[in-house]
Amino acid sequence: MIKRLEALKACYQGESHVWDVGCDHGLLGSSFLHEPRVQKIFLVDPSLDVFDKLKDTYITDGKIELIHSKGQNLKIDTKNNLIFIAGMGGKEIGEIILSLLPLLQSCSRFVISPHRKILELRSLLRELPLKLEKEEVVWDKGQFYVILSLKPDMTGEKKVSLFGDDLWQSEAGEHYRQQQIQFFSLHKDEKSQQYIDFLIHRRPSSSP
Ligand SMILES: C[S@@+](CC[C@H](N)C(=O)[O-])C[C@H]1O[C@@H](n2cnc3c(N)ncnc32)[C@H](O)[C@@H]1O
Repeated sequence: MIKRLEALKACYQGESHVWDVGCDHGLLGSSFLHEPRVQKIFLVDPSLDVFDKLKDTYITDGKIELIHSKGQNLKIDTKNNLIFIAGMGGKEIGEIILSLLPLLQSCSRFVISPHRKILELRSLLRELPLKLEKEEVVWDKGQFYVILSLKPDMTGEKKVSLFGDDLWQSEAGEHYRQQQIQFFSLHKDEKSQQYIDFLIHRRPSSSP
């Protein structure tokens, strides 16, 4: 499995139900097939083409179930879920989390990897009853990927920050910081300028 998917998989903490939302190839979800603590794997995708390929690829009479649906329309009634949402924009991921969060108990978790609109998604996530368990950046095949692990939580403890905290601590995080400064220098809106200011001067302790 490629490094990005390995990093997502490494966020597993013994949950019994694994959801791969927007699964496409299904490699992430199906990689839990031989994990004894996983009772059920749900491969979810709204694309008919993807769904047809999944049907040809996976045997679904056992642990794996295929669901042809948008993440926003899922009905989750199982406990102890790990819900992966990777490779979509921040807007879609935010919508899916808004739909699913009321259905989840605190023993479930989201592990997400937005590919676009990450700052916008962070703004939304910090307003929701979610605790940030972990954030990291992974460099894979010439691109950076941000991964956030989130848990339903009403205490207001360890909210997602606007611009990231632990994200910048690793070697990959430092390279990502340089890349983000270059990229956002082209953007003149106020939020982008605040982000650049944060990246240059105030990381990480005074994160908003
Ligand atoms: C780029 S692929 C990512 C595949 C895999 N998750 C990964 O990270 O390698 C994005 C997938 O998300 C699916 N998708 C798009 N909008 C979605 C939504 N609202 N809910 C669930 N899946 C969605 C697409 O059909 C596509 O298969």
